[in-house]
Amino acid sequence: MIIGVPKEIKNNENRVALTPAGVAEFKKYGHTVYVQSTAGEGSGFNDDEYIKAGATLLPTIEEIYGIAEMIVKVKEPIASEYNLIKKDQLLFTYFHFASSEELTHAMIKQGAVCLAYETVEKADRSLPLLVPMSEVAGRMAIQEGAKYLEKPLKGKGILLGGVPGVPPAKVLVLGGGIVGTQAAKMAAGLGARVVIMDVSLPRLRYLSDIMPQNVVTIMSNEYNIREAIQEADLIVGAVLIPGAKAPHLITRDMLKTMRPGTVVVDVAVDQGGCIETCTPTTHENPTFIIDDVVHYCVANMPGAVPYTSTLALTNATLPYAIQLANKGWQKACAENEELKKGLNVVDGKVVYQGVADAWGLAYESVETVL
Ligand SMILES: NC(=O)c1ccc[n+]([C@@H]2O[C@H](COP(=O)([O-])OP(=O)(O)OC[C@H]3O[C@@H](n4cnc5c(N)ncnc54)[C@H](O)[C@@H]3O)[C@@H](O)[C@H]2O)c1
Repeated sequence: MIIGVPKEIKNNENRVALTPAGVAEFKKYGHTVYVQSTAGEGSGFNDDEYIKAGATLLPTIEEIYGIAEMIVKVKEPIASEYNLIKKDQLLFTYFHFASSEELTHAMIKQGAVCLAYETVEKADRSLPLLVPMSEVAGRMAIQEGAKYLEKPLKGKGILLGGVPGVPPAKVLVLGGGIVGTQAAKMAAGLGARVVIMDVSLPRLRYLSDIMPQNVVTIMSNEYNIREAIQEADLIVGAVLIPGAKAPHLITRDMLKTMRPGTVVVDVAVDQGGCIETCTPTTHENPTFIIDDVVHYCVANMPGAVPYTSTLALTNATLPYAIQLANKGWQKACAENEELKKGLNVVDGKVVYQGVADAWGLAYESVETVL
């Protein structure tokens, strides 16, 4: 198959969908890979590395879309790319159709085969192509939180791990899923005293088993949250209710009970945030202060560490991309339920219920296109 890797052109997107190692893997199976010049630069991979791995470089995005049977990308196509997409071309990337009506209509019009990373789903309902970004964001939450606890950045001026003779900081993690687990692990590793809250008792049992001694698990409810935020130096919001907005676990009135210089990192901001006062921020301007509480609410945290994020993402996407290239999308999806769930829009038909519902469009069963 002919694979094309365009350079990401969305604002501030430095990730790339395929590393030189990924190119080598495709070549092993006899596929042809075209990579747009400088596509890997933002993630630390230069053109020579791609050539060495067996890719052919093309200078323009038009040439990449023009030649490829399968496009592997990171972010959804933006308006300037719509008309480059050909009928029946396979696009394997994040789409998030339910949050863009314009994109949905554009892909229906182009007649492409849109396989969305975010809806590839395992039998246990986990989302294997979202997990790596949650892992990055969870670990980063502590790194960023520790930084903003510094006095010049308006934090309390407390060192997360303390020093001999001085107690470490207290970290409260709301939600013990992927993000919360990684955040708790990092904070514990730095020596902080960590509390992790979740509503799922089986999850708390599991966390209690695997976490080190300086992590305590507590049931998440309003009473316990009100108590814990008065003590916490750093709070990480990591709650997710699938398909719904995040619940506001910390409401506006609660901020007054927190100590000045407390830092909240609301990773769940992309689902509305679990702290009422959080609104999305960017890496250029990541924080704001309300009631002396520092709010860090960057909606695309992994974007700041493109090297790590690219490797984490491609580790997860590559095995699926290879199946698509080896078998063609129809056979690959027919034989693999996880990939089949990734099909969203095919040949002008919406084959994913959630997307059809979001925009009041007709839904067709995915079986009709296989
Ligand atoms: N900002 C970013 O850059 C970024 C990056 C990756 C993920 N995210 C977001 O982070 C959030 C968490 O993602 P995840 O992968 O860890 O999800 P997850 O499903 O693995 O974990 C969510 C956890 O929240 C728990 N939960 C639900 N209601 C709760 C409540 N009331 N109190 C406490 N816990 C509760 C669930 O039981 C679950 O364990 C999502 O909103 C995700 O979109 C943001």
